[in-house]
Amino acid sequence: MIEENKGNLFLRYLIMITAVFILIGIVAVPFLKGDDSLFIILALFIGYIVILVLMYHVFENYVKPIRASVKVTKELVKGNYNVRTYVKPIGEAQELSELINKLARNFQEMYLQEKMQGSQWKTVINNMESGLMLIDERGYVHLVNRKFLKMFGKNSIQYIGYLYYDVLEEKAIHKVVQETFLYEEKITEAITRTIEAQKHHIEVVGAPVINDVKELKGAVLVFHDITELKRVEQMRKDFVANVSHELKTPITSIRGFSETLLDGAMEDEELCKQFLQIILKESTRLQALVQDLLELSKLEKEEMKLMLKTIHIDEWITSIQTLMEQQAKAKSISFQSTIDGGITFIADPDRMQQVVLNLLYNAINYTGEGGTVTLRIEAKESDIHISITDTGIGIPEDSIQRIFERFYRVDRARSRNTGGTGLGLAIVKHIVEAHKGKILVESMVNKGSTFTVILPKEW
Ligand SMILES: Nc1ncnc2c1ncn2[C@@H]1O[C@H](COP(=O)(O)OP(=O)(O)O)[C@@H](O)[C@H]1O
Ligand SMILES: [Mg+2]
Repeated sequence: MIEENKGNLFLRYLIMITAVFILIGIVAVPFLKGDDSLFIILALFIGYIVILVLMYHVFENYVKPIRASVKVTKELVKGNYNVRTYVKPIGEAQELSELINKLARNFQEMYLQEKMQGSQWKTVINNMESGLMLIDERGYVHLVNRKFLKMFGKNSIQYIGYLYYDVLEEKAIHKVVQETFLYEEKITEAITRTIEAQKHHIEVVGAPVINDVKELKGAVLVFHDITELKRVEQMRKDFVANVSHELKTPITSIRGFSETLLDGAMEDEELCKQFLQIILKESTRLQALVQDLLELSKLEKEEMKLMLKTIHIDEWITSIQTLMEQQAKAKSISFQSTIDGGITFIADPDRMQQVVLNLLYNAINYTGEGGTVTLRIEAKESDIHISITDTGIGIPEDSIQRIFERFYRVDRARSRNTGGTGLGLAIVKHIVEAHKGKILVESMVNKGSTFTVILPKEW
């Protein structure tokens, strides 16, 4: 279109100049006489040609490039940074065209950079672990991120452009926004929300947005999900309460019996012996408890190092078998073991022994006289299965999930009587998981239980 215009323009100039010369010719020719007339007509004709050539030169080298530059500049103003103008290798307008192209290139670069930065920000904001809401100084919502939508539901269009108090129902959040605006400082509140049918604890932090000249421009709300933190805190509190409770019983007992002894029971030899035996039993329990607690805290330290070695099953299992045969005999329980000979696997031998012994002690403890405890070790394709089966009291179905929790016992009194601390299975689970293995439980009340430890052969 521009080319056509240019053509038109050039044609218009051409017609104008030709018309001027024809007019001069028409006006001048009647006054001319003789040889002069031919000479003047020739001069006029040469003049006409020279002007035409000059005009063409000016047109090509000035008018055309300037018009092209104007067009490109207009496109740049519109925001189209891809346009470039044709640069003639010669002529005065060359520099102008070159500069305009350079300008367009700079604009394009800046625009691309800005676009990239914008999308980077968007990615960062949307992938933040916390929810985010940006509110302007009049209270209108300008931005919400993906995590926020996950916490509060609905789509971003249902928030953006609305007043915060119309789209957020929690009064505590309104308070955070109001106080952030009022005091122009960071304000924190905690709220609870039901997300996907689960109660979540959310910490809301409001921070004022202040520009270079210290004017309040709005507020940023950040929502941290602190459910897990709360859960851990609660677990820690429960643990401390449990430990105190567990320690209290034997200590009270030891103190009570020693006081009674000192008050005179000591004189009666029979009574004295009986009480001292209770004191010994309680202090043994106390010792076991402290030992298990230390063991657990050692296991929980992140630097828990496994001393991995290749275990040759036959020699490793012998000491366990000997120990268990004695224990079982003392309780009139038959102990059997079937071991695939020649198996090797990689594990920490001492820790693994602790696992198997713990499970075997439980099996014997929770099985009555005349029962059977079986240890079976089999090599599967890529795993080792170590299973301990008993014909004991079994575990009710709703307790199976919980027996690995610290201090959980199905029958508290029974566990105490057998000297249990309630920490054995928690320790077992820790060690098995550190070996990248897992532990399965099958049990039926009054029929018996099977605990199976599955360990990878290789790491
Ligand atoms: N072989 C088993 N048969 C029946 N109940 C068991 C068996 N092993 C564990 N339990 C149940 O799991 C609870 C937790 O076991 P554990 O952590 O070893 O603690 P405890 O010190 O009481 O033995 C026990 O108190 C017991 O109720
Ligand atoms: Mg136990």
